[in-house]
Amino acid sequence: MSGSLGGKRALVTGGDSGIGAAVSLALAVAGADVAIVYNRDEVAAAEVVKGIEANGAKGLSVQANVAEVGDVDRLFETVASEWAPLDILVCSAGIDGHAALSWEGDPEAWLTVIKVNLFGTYLCARKALAQMVEQKSGVVINISSVHEVIPWTGFSAYTASKAGMSMMTKTMAQEAAEHGVRVLAVGPGAIQTPINQNVWGDPVGLKDLLDKIPFGRMGTPEEIGRLVAVLASDDASYVTGTTVFADGGMTLFPGFRHGG
Ligand code: BGC
Repeated sequence: MSGSLGGKRALVTGGDSGIGAAVSLALAVAGADVAIVYNRDEVAAAEVVKGIEANGAKGLSVQANVAEVGDVDRLFETVASEWAPLDILVCSAGIDGHAALSWEGDPEAWLTVIKVNLFGTYLCARKALAQMVEQKSGVVINISSVHEVIPWTGFSAYTASKAGMSMMTKTMAQEAAEHGVRVLAVGPGAIQTPINQNVWGDPVGLKDLLDKIPFGRMGTPEEIGRLVAVLASDDASYVTGTTVFADGGMTLFPGFRHGG
């Protein structure tokens, strides 16, 4: 298989939709075989697998809820028997949660966001790292967000999960470096996917959002997919323990762009 990821095997959580689906296809375009993990949408997962195979790569889909220890154990048993050696893990499964001020929201809903975004990433990354450390090669890429550094009213669980992911990523990178394994994060800004359709689907919401982006447009899932494919490849062989933001300038304090 040609391409910068030729001969590599990848696993992408949340690969059935949004950024995860675009990442899965971009990895396949770069030559990797790609297994995707989906929680509920079997039909969407099958579509993505078709897309992976249309690029001449092998595809596989596995059902698992990344927030459940038993599910992740079962997932990695499948990986060990059908998808080893694993070279690339992309943790893209995530939810925004419902908007609620911290003092008004439901604690159980808060915890669910942490469980999916942070605990789920931890569960998958630790399983992949155990194997990658052993084989002395591999890359883990966690899909974070601009909200690992930008506070977001109504989404304290989401911001906490992504800020936590940033420090967890750095710590895992420190632990894995001497074993030849890289761990890093990608921090997308406002990427047009189903997760934020309630904002971009409404003209007032969209205008308010675009005001926060110096590029004046939302990003596409494909722009994140291509970045992840580069970071997963040896072209990024010296990159570890950092978050690479892809946000059209959203983290650049856009409120100051005309002075102030
Ligand atoms: C969230 C999106 C949001 C974007 C920019 C992302 O991490 O998932 O819903 O549009 O950040 O605020």
